Amino acid sequence: MKKIIVTGGAGFIGSNFVRMLLKKKARQKVTVLDKLTYAGNLDNISDLMKDRRLEFIKGDICNARLLDSILPGTDIIYNFAAETHVDRSILEAGSFVKTDVVGTYTLLQKTLKYSIPRFVQISTDEVYGSILKGKFRETDPMLPNSPYSASKAAADMLVRSFHKTYGLPAVITRSSNNYGPNQHPEKFIPLFLTNAIEGKPLPLYGDGKNIRDWVYVEDNCRAIELVGRSGKTGEIYNIGAGEEKTNLYIARKIIEITGADKSLLTLISDRPGHDRRYAVCTRKISRLGWKKKVGFSEGMQKTARWYIDNEKWWKSIKEGAFKRYYSRMYSRRIDTSVKKGTE
Ligand code: NAD
Ligand code: DAU
Repeated sequence: MKKIIVTGGAGFIGSNFVRMLLKKKARQKVTVLDKLTYAGNLDNISDLMKDRRLEFIKGDICNARLLDSILPGTDIIYNFAAETHVDRSILEAGSFVKTDVVGTYTLLQKTLKYSIPRFVQISTDEVYGSILKGKFRETDPMLPNSPYSASKAAADMLVRSFHKTYGLPAVITRSSNNYGPNQHPEKFIPLFLTNAIEGKPLPLYGDGKNIRDWVYVEDNCRAIELVGRSGKTGEIYNIGAGEEKTNLYIARKIIEITGADKSLLTLISDRPGHDRRYAVCTRKISRLGWKKKVGFSEGMQKTARWYIDNEKWWKSIKEGAFKRYYSRMYSRRIDTSVKKGTE
């Protein structure tokens, strides 16, 4: 039986990935190792727990002793575990360095120790930095601009070094912005969807014209699985949907879909170091046989539907510890904003 470890499997992309793996009838044991930080949520996989092929272990990827007890005999590790929110990394970077850098290092050491034949590092297009024209290729240098992206870039460097120095059989995926079910409401699309449903302001940073390329989470999960299975050892694979949108365009779409009042749209002071545009060339992953299945309008409809149908899921997050974070991050900026209901 194939033994698969998914770190961060109770988070947004990790939980969608585990769901996809378990849909296959394959003889496999999937172990989710997750610290259950504020971003981890067992509800994301609770309906899958009845599948005896799934095991959940609450723990930290920085815990070397715990890894000694879990990793022997593993066939493949997918490392999704990370601190992931750029805004939080601006408030406090230490936990990002700890999990994203030291955690990845600890996993790499143990992968080597137990001769695990495949290590898939889930990285991000943010490691390249911002690009105003054209698209980043896998061979471009990394120029990260936030403590989050710098921590992810550091992890990528470690993965590369373990491959080059010790022959560790690793591959790296660098995807663009994901959206879909189970994404924490701190992130742009779920925050705007849930605020719109609640009739609260939609706090758009700067001029709202920053651009991201949005890939539906299930498309990214298929790409990651493909890279794990068929990617060339030591290589990096960009993943993106070619769905470049300004934040303002998305905010207006959300208002249209939810029927919210236009006046909720509020331009607030910008994120420090805010990357203007992300775009990646996806020729390499296409050559492996991947292409997106879900376009942006279909994906947004599905995502909005999920948040409308799963109010209990996001309300329990928004009404918990998130309240303090939200107030610290937004209250003053919203109160002092000058442009509302931007045309
Ligand atoms: P998320 O914040 O929703 O989930 C992260 C998960 O990791 C949580 O379940 C959390 O409890 C767990 N975790 C955090 N620290 C841990 C630790 N020390 N040990 C074990 N578990 C820990 O994140 P996400 O959006 O699902 O992102 C998953 C991965 O994909 C990350 O590595 C992220 O950098 C990368 N990524 C995300 C996006 C995106 O748009 N969301 C895009 C590109 C790459
Ligand atoms: O590109 C991949 C990355 O995408 C991942 O590596 C990160 O883990 C993930 O969080 C995401 O980073 P972004 O910074 O692009 O995502 P975020 O959802 O925070 O913001 C998306 C855009 O929306 C960005 O331009 C900032 C803007 N924004 C965000 C929030 C939360 C707003 O205008 N208002 C907001 O309240």
